[in-house]
Amino acid sequence: MKWPNHGGQPNVIQQLFQMNTDQPVLDFSANLNPLGPPNWLNNALHQAYETISRYPDPSYTNSTAAVAQFEGIHQDNVLVTNGGAEAIFLVAKYFENGKACIVHPTFLEYERACNHYHLNIDEMFYDQDNGFSLPMLELKHRLQETDVLFLCRPNNPTGHVIAETEIKQLLELGLSVGTHIVVDEAFADFLPSNTHSLTRLLETYPNLIILRSLTKMYTIPGLRFGYVMAHQSVISVLKHEQIPWSINSLVDSIIPKLIADRTFVDKTKSLLHGESQFLHRSLTSMDFYLSPTQVNFYLLRDRKRPNETEELFIFLLHHGIVTRHTHNFKGLQGDFLRLAIRSHEENKQLVAVLKKWREDK
Ligand SMILES: Cc1ncc(COP(=O)(O)O)c(C=O)c1O
Repeated sequence: MKWPNHGGQPNVIQQLFQMNTDQPVLDFSANLNPLGPPNWLNNALHQAYETISRYPDPSYTNSTAAVAQFEGIHQDNVLVTNGGAEAIFLVAKYFENGKACIVHPTFLEYERACNHYHLNIDEMFYDQDNGFSLPMLELKHRLQETDVLFLCRPNNPTGHVIAETEIKQLLELGLSVGTHIVVDEAFADFLPSNTHSLTRLLETYPNLIILRSLTKMYTIPGLRFGYVMAHQSVISVLKHEQIPWSINSLVDSIIPKLIADRTFVDKTKSLLHGESQFLHRSLTSMDFYLSPTQVNFYLLRDRKRPNETEELFIFLLHHGIVTRHTHNFKGLQGDFLRLAIRSHEENKQLVAVLKKWREDK
């Protein structure tokens, strides 16, 4: 079966299972904000329309200054990028022909980017039986043979968050053995207020590289905006490698307003908090496993029928619910489904279908 590499392609899934693509489905496979983009964005893009007849400012001053101000860091420590994906590929290029370590299951593109730039990859795995915790002992051993360690915090696809104390231990060790640690924080905007991003560690650790994306929180996968935060020596090399006009002028002009819209972020987090509790309550009471997520998606597995995940995927699909398969997440081998947390109505529909599945056998 030729499974799609990423979520958010419900029609591809329908075609794969010879279903009519006109049939409406609920898409739980893309881990985007259930609220969609902020309401004001449509007008703001119309207002920015006149910028498309000029080349973008090659230094993207508008968006770079907005990011630096928002993060409380110097502009020399920021590089804005065409989504988180460009940030990942630029960073992999920085370590071209070097040695990388990737802890799975995690976002696919680290591996793709490392392969593209001929890095030698050492694979490690989260401890599934211990809430997907980091294999710290083994990782510390391997760090001295590694140029760059890729971590995702919160991690896609599990939604779990590596403890800051563990990251600090790795950064300390990394400093002494010459290892950089890349932390992809594409989902950091969704974190509850008592769990922090790692931005404030940048000052202490020149070996820390943080990647961000605005795609997920603001539901703008089609606009493309992300950024890298790192020591200025790293940023200046990445800047040199970046293709010209990577950020289009529409995006450069709307970012200051977008990144400043914390009301939207707070509204999202409050919705997700309630929905996360609702789903956890409803699904664990039916004996489903949910990964220990702190964000807007989670892994699901039927504890009663753990070896029937593919059947569950198909059952949900036939009931109008598209989920994300996990065949291409190393370490999961399709044993789980990844689902986004959607609106209350949609989550209720999901719970109802899972109830039916439970009652079926
Ligand atoms: C962990 C992680 N990082 C980065 C990205 C890429 O985001 P963008 O759409 O901004 O390129 C994704 C997208 O799914 C992701 O899950």
